[in-house]
Amino acid sequence: MDLGIKKKKVIVTASSKGIGFAIAKRFLEEGAEVIISSHDEYNLIKAYEKLKPLGKVDYIKADLTKAEDVERLIDEGYRRLSGLDVLAYVTGSPKPGNLFELGNEDWLNAFNLLLMSAVVAVREAGKRMKEGGRIILSTSMTLKQPIDNLDLSNVVRLSLAGLIRVASRELGPKGITVNGIMPGWTLTDRVDQLVKDRARREGRSEQDVLNDIVKDVPLKRIGKPEEVANVVLFLASNLATYVNGALIPVDGGILRCIL
Ligand SMILES: NC(=O)c1ccc[n+]([C@@H]2O[C@H](COP(=O)([O-])OP(=O)(O)OC[C@H]3O[C@@H](n4cnc5c(N)ncnc54)[C@H](OP(=O)(O)O)[C@@H]3O)[C@@H](O)[C@H]2O)c1
Repeated sequence: MDLGIKKKKVIVTASSKGIGFAIAKRFLEEGAEVIISSHDEYNLIKAYEKLKPLGKVDYIKADLTKAEDVERLIDEGYRRLSGLDVLAYVTGSPKPGNLFELGNEDWLNAFNLLLMSAVVAVREAGKRMKEGGRIILSTSMTLKQPIDNLDLSNVVRLSLAGLIRVASRELGPKGITVNGIMPGWTLTDRVDQLVKDRARREGRSEQDVLNDIVKDVPLKRIGKPEEVANVVLFLASNLATYVNGALIPVDGGILRCIL
């Protein structure tokens, strides 16, 4: 099936590893031209080397906590690709912690990493995109259901739901769609970090914590990054021309809320 992805010009943020890397890989497999990005040049080059055999890929180093880096990433990406059809926005992870463990600086960093970067990326991409452009923001299931001791994600990420709604209304008249996905537990370094943190807090083994997480997922397993990437691909494809302002869970059914 032709998804309409071939030759699309795509920027994927936070894509040296994990979910972002899987998204970049899927786009390349479908024949898109992709710019990957992260704030660690070593990881970025490693990812670039792995992706290079799949198609036309390039990389730009940018720190998502710095608005000027995000502006430069979108501008330079747009110029290197000679256009921009899709922005697949992913971020790095905020550190775990609760109200009494996190300091003011942590909250401000999370604001820059999780919200400000998204605002700047959406604005700069929206300015440059033409009709048919697609913006997809990868957030988290914490938008619907907080996870204990992940307060930065539980609180700051919620604003992404507002951003998606606002941007879908403001860019819709230009023929650009803005949607989001909410990944649940997905097999990446992030899960290792969270399992270790929970095991330490609760004095349990990591395996025990992992078993509990899996038990809670109706599909009885943790998701694969490619399974998240496939939904991003769908939202960028010509199968999703009338989907705008949506926030789709990709979580194996773990969310208990009905709406
Ligand atoms: N995995 C899950 O279960 C899950 C579930 C829901 C939501 N999420 C969220 O989804 C996002 C991606 O998670 P993941 O599981 O793919 O994590 P991951 O495997 O740890 O990958 C994180 C990516 O973010 C990049 N990054 C980190 N800080 C950055 C910064 N300041 N500027 C630019 N890039 C930065 C990292 O690249 P460098 O280190 O090379 O810079 C890496 O490419 C995170 O926000 C995470 O909280 C994850």
